[in-house]
Amino acid sequence: MVDNPAAVLQVRGLTVRYGSVRAVHGLNLDVSAGEVLGVIGANGAGKSSLVNAIAGATRSSSGSIALNSRDITKAPVTERVRAGIAVSPEGRGILAGMTVEENLRLGAYSVRRRDRNVLGGRLAEAFAIFPVLGERRSQMAQTLSGGEAAMLSVARALMSGPCLLLLDEPSLGLAPIMRQRLFERIAVLKRTGLAMVIVEQRAAELLEVSDRLLQMRRGESAGIGRAAEMDAESLARLYFGAAAAPGPSAPS
Ligand SMILES: Nc1ncnc2c1ncn2[C@@H]1O[C@H](COP(=O)(O)OP(=O)(O)OP(=O)(O)O)[C@@H](O)[C@H]1O
Ligand SMILES: [Mg+2]
Repeated sequence: MVDNPAAVLQVRGLTVRYGSVRAVHGLNLDVSAGEVLGVIGANGAGKSSLVNAIAGATRSSSGSIALNSRDITKAPVTERVRAGIAVSPEGRGILAGMTVEENLRLGAYSVRRRDRNVLGGRLAEAFAIFPVLGERRSQMAQTLSGGEAAMLSVARALMSGPCLLLLDEPSLGLAPIMRQRLFERIAVLKRTGLAMVIVEQRAAELLEVSDRLLQMRRGESAGIGRAAEMDAESLARLYFGAAAAPGPSAPS
């Protein structure tokens, strides 16, 4: 199965079922260090099911998932976190009745209590990447603006020190200027060598930060292509899903 040893994440033949509903069907993908894979697709295409199966929040029915060549298909969530997978889930998953700092500390639950230096270092890093969170560290999460909450969700995922970051619709509901700011921060993270899978329904910013784009349609790949090589027409097809035209066919 390990045919691309450089890949941080390798997904082969992944299928996710909920009873008789097949949400993901036979999906293959690789993501390398410092690479961003953008995932787009309509409501119900299976994007969150894919992310949740990689994170271990949803069980896969068949296929395999490997992180740094280690098979984690059956591993529980906690083991995946320790292995280096972090997720900012759909809906952000922030605890509203806790402060910014408490939310961040929760993200570092995999750091052992005696590793105070590690925890302190991670907090400092989070505040360096997202200065607004440093300014608001004692503020209750429920009082954050949408943009700040989006940043908190990403920052909290980073607190476990991941090598693979999964972001499920991080910019949902944000005004264009906040979306832009969030993606600027994501571009900074990319330069640190993180591998990322970012789901968005429609966001021009996703295209800018992505190395490749995967379009999902009814649980399957409708095309995966290098973002830089896509012309305006294929992008329009990707975003607006014109049924008349096939998706991009560039090999991954
Ligand atoms: N827990 C569940 N039980 C049953 N069916 C589910 C469950 N979660 C998702 N589904 C179904 O699986 C399919 C894929 O859903 P999923 O949430 O993965 O799509 P999505 O691409 O993330 O959609 P959206 O853009 O709306 O977030 C849908 O048909 C959905 O109704
Ligand atoms: Mg979803």
